[in-house]
Parts: sequence; C-alpha cells; structure tokens
Amino acid sequence: MPKDQKKLKGLLLAGGKGTRLRPFTYTGAKQLVALANRPILFHAIDQLTACGITDLGIVVGETKEEVKAAVGDGSQFGASVTYIEQSTPLGIAHGVKIAEDFIGDDPFVLFLGDNILKEGIGRYVEQFRTGCHNSLVLLCPVDEPQNFGVAQLDGDKLVRVIEKPKDPPSNMAVIGIYFFDAHVFDAIRRVKPSARGELEITDTIQRLVDDGLDVRAEVISGRWIDTGKHDDLLEANHLILEDLEPQLSGRHDEASTIQGRVVLQEGAEVVNSHIQGPVIIGERTRIVNSFIGPFTSIYHDCLVADTEISGSVVLEHTRIEKVGHRIEHSLIGRNVEIRGHQRRPHGYELILGDYSKLHTP
Ligand code: G1P
Repeated sequence: MPKDQKKLKGLLLAGGKGTRLRPFTYTGAKQLVALANRPILFHAIDQLTACGITDLGIVVGETKEEVKAAVGDGSQFGASVTYIEQSTPLGIAHGVKIAEDFIGDDPFVLFLGDNILKEGIGRYVEQFRTGCHNSLVLLCPVDEPQNFGVAQLDGDKLVRVIEKPKDPPSNMAVIGIYFFDAHVFDAIRRVKPSARGELEITDTIQRLVDDGLDVRAEVISGRWIDTGKHDDLLEANHLILEDLEPQLSGRHDEASTIQGRVVLQEGAEVVNSHIQGPVIIGERTRIVNSFIGPFTSIYHDCLVADTEISGSVVLEHTRIEKVGHRIEHSLIGRNVEIRGHQRRPHGYELILGDYSKLHTP
C-alpha cells in the first residue's frame, strides 16, 4: 500500500536522565520543564497533532509516572497515546526497537521529546507521505557539529552519518526528528552498541544507506533547538515567545501597564507593575510592584514582588521578592525562594534548581 494511503504514527522519546539539565532534572523529567508555560514535550506533541498525526507512542523511562500524569491518554491533545516502557536508557534506536509492536508496519515520525523546530514539521510530513523514500532525515547547519550526529552528503544524497565525530565531515547536524518506514526494525536488529553502550540512531540510518534503501536528507530552513543545555532552554523559550498570541484571561489593575504580546493566564494577577511582552504569566501567579521584561515566562502559582525580571524562565511555585538587582537571562526552578531587601541597578544571572533558596543583602 502506498504511504500516502497509510496513516503516519508518531513515536516520541521521553526517557533519558537529562543529566545536562541538572539541577532541574534531579526533581523532574527534562521533557516536562515548561517553555512559554507549556512542557517541552507538549510542544512536540502539538507539532505532531498539527499535521494530523494522532496515533502516538511515547517511550518513557525512570520519570514515567510524571510523564504519564502530565500527558494522560492524549485526549487533551486530540490524540491517543500508548506508553512504551524502557527500563534502561540504551539509546535512541533501542527506544525505536521496543516500539515495534506499536508501530507495526506503518511509516512513522520519530521525535526526540526535547527538540523544538520553529517552522513545525508539516512540510516534511507531506514530503515523506507522498514520496517513496524509506527514510527522511532532517539536517541543520550548526557551529559545533562534533556534539551531534553529522551527515556527509554527495549533492543531496546522504552518503554517511556519524555520531559525534571528533573530525566532522560537514557542519550538517542530524536533528532529532526522523521519518522511517518499517525497514528500520530490520536495520536496528543488525546494529551493535556504540562505545557509549547505546544503540545509535545514526548507525541505524547508516545501515539503511548501506542496504541501498532510499534515504533522503533535507536541510531545514527554520530554527531548530535541541534543548539539552541551560542556554538552549532560554533560547527555545525566546523562540516560542516570538509567536505568542496575546490573551488576557487574568487580571491587571489600572496602575499597571501591559505592552506588547502578553498572555495573562487564568487567575493571574498583575498589580502596580509593568509587563513588557512577549511575556507569559501563569495561572494564579501574582506580579506586584514589579517589571517583567521581554522574553520572560513565569509559570503557575508564583509570586514576584518588588523585582525586575527579563529574558528568563521561572518555574512553578516560586517566590521572588525585593531583589535589588534585575534578574536577567536566568532559569529558576520550581519552589524556589529568592528574597532581597534593596534595589540596585545591577543584574543577576542565575541557574537555580528546584527548592533553592537565595537571600540577597
Ligand atoms: C541525539 C542523536 C544525535 C542527534 C541529536 C539531535 O544526540 O544521537 O545524532 O544529532 O540527538 O538532538 P543526544 O541528544 O543523545 O546526545
């Protein structure tokens, strides 16, 4: 049956320990860290459902209870979700291997749950659905290709893919969104664990190429971020907020000014403050006598009082009061308490994990 008459399934990987995002990931799944007040994994699910891909498998690891509680059966996304449990994180290709029963012989999109593609995946879904490739791999030029899977091309033909090469053959990183048909399972069975002890998706793609299958590579045109590190999280938050649709469901008093694209979620309250969008303020969060600057997300149930914050992400249940320096370019975890006494015209740059306490002079 041609692919375009088959429905594509979606496979999301949401296992892994997220060691590079510590301290946040000591207390929570990295895929549930919220960007623009929505867990990263939800942004990935949104991109799949936006293309009509609603039959989703999610590979979960040691944070499975948390992921299951947040995503549920998928009905909140108009999708149906099957969970596939990976007891040990043995690599991306291992995650695919254990999903074979769920995928069956359908073509599918593999989406690493921490990847963000600004333009969405619609174009590539269409290309794969209507084309006769066995796999479609998306590439993005990067500054440090040695940190990614890297492609070697001959024209638009994919010749070789290598995982994190010391001496990269090009600057083309393989991004964490891949399209496969069922040939991939046969390839994985023949892949051996790499030096880091994982079944690599790059080695699997190389097998497909060596088998003479039709593996197409496409260079993406928009921005892509693998939210593996702190700076990437802030950049991804910025990227998502660029497209923020303003909505004032919460309240603000007359002494407050709201400028630019601002979302006040249900129950948010702004008192005697200036909000300079793009900014999103979460449910039941109170902003009092403060300035919240551009490209900032403050999640649910927070309090910010007598403080200036810009270019930052603040997670839920955090209290920030009377901080004398502007907080900028900062990532502040859940249940954090920051309290100061004075105002001074300097900045702080912070990475504060969940349950931190910072009392300034
Ligand atoms: C993984 C893949 C790598 C790919 C990257 C994209 O790397 O192994 O080939 O370029 O995702 O996000 P990891 O995040 O496991 O280091």
